[in-house]
Amino acid sequence: MKFQGITGKFTEANVDALAIAVFKGEKATGSDLKQFDALTGGLIASVIKNEEFKGDKGETALLRFSPSGAVKAGRLLLVGVGEKAKYKASDVSGVSGTATRFLRSRNVKSFALLPRAEGDAVEIAQAAAQGFVTSQFELDKYKTKDKNEKAVAGLTLCIDGAKAADLKNGLTRGQIIGESMNFTRDLANEPPNILQPTEFAKRAQAMAKETGMKCEILDEEKMIKLGMGSLMSVSIGSAQPAKMIIVKYTPAKSTAKKGELLALVGKGITFDTGGISLKPGEGMDAMKYDMSGGATVLGTMRAIGLLKPTIPVIGIVAAVENMPDGAASRPSDVVTAMNGKTVEILNTDAEGRLVLADAVAYAEKMGATKIIDMATLTGAVIVALGDQNTGIMGNDQDLVDSLIATSKEVGEGFWQLPVSEEYSKMIKSDIADVKNIGPRGKAGTIMGAVFIQEFIDKAKWAHLDIAGTAWMDSAKSHQSKGPTGVAVRTLLKFVEKSQ
Ligand code: BES
Ligand code: MN
Ligand code: ZN
Repeated sequence: MKFQGITGKFTEANVDALAIAVFKGEKATGSDLKQFDALTGGLIASVIKNEEFKGDKGETALLRFSPSGAVKAGRLLLVGVGEKAKYKASDVSGVSGTATRFLRSRNVKSFALLPRAEGDAVEIAQAAAQGFVTSQFELDKYKTKDKNEKAVAGLTLCIDGAKAADLKNGLTRGQIIGESMNFTRDLANEPPNILQPTEFAKRAQAMAKETGMKCEILDEEKMIKLGMGSLMSVSIGSAQPAKMIIVKYTPAKSTAKKGELLALVGKGITFDTGGISLKPGEGMDAMKYDMSGGATVLGTMRAIGLLKPTIPVIGIVAAVENMPDGAASRPSDVVTAMNGKTVEILNTDAEGRLVLADAVAYAEKMGATKIIDMATLTGAVIVALGDQNTGIMGNDQDLVDSLIATSKEVGEGFWQLPVSEEYSKMIKSDIADVKNIGPRGKAGTIMGAVFIQEFIDKAKWAHLDIAGTAWMDSAKSHQSKGPTGVAVRTLLKFVEKSQ
């Protein structure tokens, strides 16, 4: 992959194609488009007039022309970006991704992009490179034939008036972030027979080694010793031993307040059958994605390891398989979690919260003062928010607000749902401290959150329910279908803003 930043002479870039962002309703005779319209002999005016291209978000039109003079590319791709007033730096990742996917399908190997976004050049360049990298992720890893062998290898990014150093910095950052999102997506996409907890742990160790971080793996013996009866109750029905993965990032020079430590905690259910509360067969295959929260933690840690912010961060993944067998937990079992609380398991399919209970308690035991957990926790969040927004809940409004604001800045959507004592009462058990489900059909996503909250002691805590956003059922103009790598960008930016 080759990235280059330029600050002028866009049309003269030594590439196969030129790509420009075009606003909705923009005229070919406008001061910006005029020169490109002339270059193509009036083709822009023509496609706009014929309504072949309107400038809607994700729309594309490829124009072929005979290059002359210093111009080398014979193709100009128009990429719609929607309304000019709403277009911002973070949207450039979608524009870059849409251009990349389109041009890749036409066998183009390199292109120059004129994103025409206002704002910080580092941010725009970062978004462009990230979109370039993430748009080329495909699900074909295990195909022996019909693989997508095409690849766009080079991106030349043009931002007029930008500093060369900012462009370079942004492009490098964007490549790291894009590759880290793809790292998350590759993990999420792995079949569950290949990526079981042991393999998950190995991938984490390899990633930590490559990025210069420490990685520790707790095995079942250790977890039993620590009293993680809640997590172990999920693992007990599986032939695959559970692993607790801990990745530690320590900055060379910390700017964090003494004693402050952020932990990112992920649900890493490598396959969720539901256990004895068995899921219906139809669609169960999607439960290979039930480790997406854990994959997000590892992808974010990868980016942190490479970009080196000045605050310490630990990443924790509870990697467990949820299977039914003769040893599996039964609805009505009572188990004791690491923090001493007893849990009545009324549905073995509400397993994510059971493993997270011990994982967040462990994070606090390791000294975390701020915990962000992420999980494909409830089907209910898909009913509430669809695939547009990640559900967010927490015990500290400043932390929640800051995560929501950050999600907006990077172009992801987080939407808050409430937690309160009234909701917490709904998971009181008749025979133990808490039960792992609330009343049928009521506030399912919040029930998951208030359950996890029972295992937070003093830490500030936010919970992300990514069940609706971790993977997409269909491709978009800028990304393949399947895992999305959601929340990696938000969490990284949150960490960088916290330094
Ligand atoms: N992993 C599922 C949640 C899920 C469902 C994620 C669909 C993505 C798509 C989770 O473990 C689960 O089974 N949750 C139950 C909870 C219920 C038993 C209280 C659910 O949502 O049905
Ligand atoms: Mn489940
Ligand atoms: Zn699950």
